Amino acid sequence: EIDFFFPHQRTLAVIKPDAMEDHKEKILEEIHSSGFSVSQLKETVLSKEMAEEFYKEHRGKPFFEQLVELMCRGPCMMLVLTKENAVEEWRAMMGPTDPAQAKVSSPKSLRARFASDILHNSVHGASDEQHADEKIHFIFGEIDTDEKPNHDGTV
Ligand code: PPS
Repeated sequence: EIDFFFPHQRTLAVIKPDAMEDHKEKILEEIHSSGFSVSQLKETVLSKEMAEEFYKEHRGKPFFEQLVELMCRGPCMMLVLTKENAVEEWRAMMGPTDPAQAKVSSPKSLRARFASDILHNSVHGASDEQHADEKIHFIFGEIDTDEKPNHDGTV
């Protein structure tokens, strides 16, 4: 069937608190126009414990406390994006972590346009498929990806 030729992949995308007020609508619009399907979405304020767990790979780095503090500062938008090659495509759309670099190498990227510095960099994306699965599970719980709607739209 068609899924064999166009295997879809999932990734976790986050609109971080620094971008929620001014850029959320624009970012969502661009996610849709770039061909991603949004299969899950929720706006949430992370607790300190959740933010620490979410970024556990960075525990011990000099910026860890600041990063956790930023993520708890206000609501963020969590999205499960689905598309062929979603992990890489979303990271390309975000641009490099540091907006100063993004402005040079990928001026059309989200971070080049909306981020203010390496901490307040407006969006996050899982780094690989395994991370994506792990973070999706952490934020949304289990999702049954094998569940397909019937032809009449019922599940
Ligand atoms: S690393 O160290 O290469 O794994 O870091 P990276 O993947 O670039 O992302 C690190 C996340 O921490 C945030 N952050 C910083 N990174 C590097 N240097 C400084 N000074 C810094 N301050 C904050 C950065 O925003 C990345 O967050 P996400 O949400 O993953 O983009």
